[in-house]
Amino acid sequence: MEHVFPTGFLWGAATAAYQIEGAVAADGRGPSIWDTFAAVPGAVLGGVGGDPACDHFHRHRQDVELLRELGLPAYRFSTAWPRVMPDGRTVEPRGLAFYDRLVDDLLAAGVRPLVTLYHWDLPQALQDRGGWCDRDLVGRFTDYACTVHDRLGDRVADWTTLNEPFCSAFLGYGVGVHAPGLSDAGAALVAAHHHLLAHGAAARALRERGRPGDRLSIVLNFSPALADGDDAAHRDAARRFDVLHNRFFLDPVLGRGYPQDLFADVAHLAALEPAIRDGDPALIAAPVDWIGVNYYAPTRVAPLADLRAPSNCPLPGLRGVDVLPPRGPLTSMGWEQHPESLTELLVWLGERCGPVPLVVAENGAAFVDVVDPDGRVRDVGRTRYLAEHLRAVHAALARGADVRGYLAWSLLDNFEWSFGYTQRFGLVHVDFDTQRRTVKDSGRFFAEVVARNAVPAG
Ligand code: BGC
Repeated sequence: MEHVFPTGFLWGAATAAYQIEGAVAADGRGPSIWDTFAAVPGAVLGGVGGDPACDHFHRHRQDVELLRELGLPAYRFSTAWPRVMPDGRTVEPRGLAFYDRLVDDLLAAGVRPLVTLYHWDLPQALQDRGGWCDRDLVGRFTDYACTVHDRLGDRVADWTTLNEPFCSAFLGYGVGVHAPGLSDAGAALVAAHHHLLAHGAAARALRERGRPGDRLSIVLNFSPALADGDDAAHRDAARRFDVLHNRFFLDPVLGRGYPQDLFADVAHLAALEPAIRDGDPALIAAPVDWIGVNYYAPTRVAPLADLRAPSNCPLPGLRGVDVLPPRGPLTSMGWEQHPESLTELLVWLGERCGPVPLVVAENGAAFVDVVDPDGRVRDVGRTRYLAEHLRAVHAALARGADVRGYLAWSLLDNFEWSFGYTQRFGLVHVDFDTQRRTVKDSGRFFAEVVARNAVPAG
């Protein structure tokens, strides 16, 4: 027995520039905030940075060949702003030329390219002027987006403005575990607002200069809140977490503005309110053709006795919520494996976003993988994770959610941000000493799912 997906369902895998490219000084690339952050002692496990990562900059042909071998019809990658504009504003033709070659190679291999314009690698020169706390970045990002689109738009139809503004703004400016490493809740909320404005402004500009078939999107990460009890206080704790983690980003994109309960529950909004100007909500609500859904794990929550007390979870301004340890089977990131949450999330999003369809733009898991002496990587845990989560997507489809595709995270083991090279998410194993690629058992399993357009029943 197997669960068959709708005809035309989009299958593929995803990566991000800073996590795979390496070659941080090649062809005029400028430094990004992640180069700077990774050089701070203690910021990244093992004291490493994104160079050489997977050396994809020099090995992209081989990686495109892997996509072809696996039979993946689509590939989501990001362009690096500091490669295209080393100082954040001046175009470096050699940087653009790299993506030109990549797109041509993908098309020659029959792989549909999906471009993400921003996956967290801000040019350092722009951070020096305030980074995402500076409203001027909205215009800068729009210029950059148009520059890439002008070059690739004759061959690329799928354009994602931002990947996970939650991480870029909240983890980077509020929690301090991502670049630029600031811990300022007010700054994080303002940075988040500027991300959303940049999305809206760039989406409008791309729509104006794009072709009729262009599909514009934003990719958001969601962590459904699982309350540890069914009473009103527990439900309220889940709501408080959900508003900041999920609805803060989704609702303005959908044209609903910031959720009103945010203003009741969250501290430090005094910093955010003056940053919101007349016309901002309309700008953010630029029409999109799909919403990208990144899902890895839920978050378990309970209420604190004092609803004004800061949460143990350092999300900017979160109050009254006790975030509990994950339960059951965990991945090597320590994240809970809970496929049911993916079904519920997609059903909820389907209702909230409709008629705008959804694409699962990232889903996957890290485990400790080894290449056996016979050259195989028997990553049973990841294969099981993928199978369960694909069945979860299918269950959401059966309940009416309009999900159009699934992109596995990630094609390759790569630089896992502050975890350095200690966490492997790839369908393909990368030996970081030799740069040897080995397709894992999970990669073969996924290739089979794609070929059959179906996942085996559990
Ligand atoms: C990000 C990826 C990251 C993955 C696993 C997502 O939040 O988009 O860049 O590697 O999660 O942590």
